[in-house]
Amino acid sequence: MKANLQPASIEDILVMMTIDRQCFPAGEAFSLEEFYFYLYYLDSISLIYRDKSKILGFIIFSKLDEYWELVTLDIKPEEQGKGIGTYLLKEGFEKVKERSSGPVYLHVRVDNEKAINLYRKFGFNVVKTVKNYYNNRQDAYLMHKE
Ligand SMILES: CC(C)(COP(=O)(O)OP(=O)(O)OC[C@H]1O[C@@H](n2cnc3c(N)ncnc32)[C@H](O)[C@@H]1OP(=O)(O)O)[C@@H](O)C(=O)NCCC(=O)NCCS
Repeated sequence: MKANLQPASIEDILVMMTIDRQCFPAGEAFSLEEFYFYLYYLDSISLIYRDKSKILGFIIFSKLDEYWELVTLDIKPEEQGKGIGTYLLKEGFEKVKERSSGPVYLHVRVDNEKAINLYRKFGFNVVKTVKNYYNNRQDAYLMHKE
């Protein structure tokens, strides 16, 4: 897949937030403050997927103690199902491996079949269900990959 991948810059945050709100309902989408927190306060890896100059998707990982969290993976709704999520996960894991080893965790809404299927393909397994994980009280699976 031919693509232009770059770390997120400060100018990208508003577009990322817009895509996040197209991908997730209220209570699950991140606020502006959360984007700043994940991208600039925590030790993070971000990759933005662009076609020409247009952002089509992005992935964010954060390092927390000895493990990584896959914070989010967002593909613009009209660009989903074209392999971009797979590509970002593959490239994102390469960057994580270059930085340090350690397990990767993530949370995903229990009925988000698309994402769960994709994460299973990458070797993630469900550790447990976290009740009322999201602000809108939806449950999440905690998933783990060694
Ligand atoms: C989930 C998401 C990241 C997947 O990215 P994508 O670019 O659409 O996915 P891909 O085209 O790379 O497909 C990868 C796999 O996802 C799964 N998938 C994709 N579309 C699917 C669908 N309609 N139904 C079920 N599984 C699906 C399949 O396992 C697929 O693999 P396959 O093509 O070999 O069958 C994307 O749909 C998205 O941004 N969704 C909204 C945000 C979200 O839920 N993010 C995850 C948060 S934890």
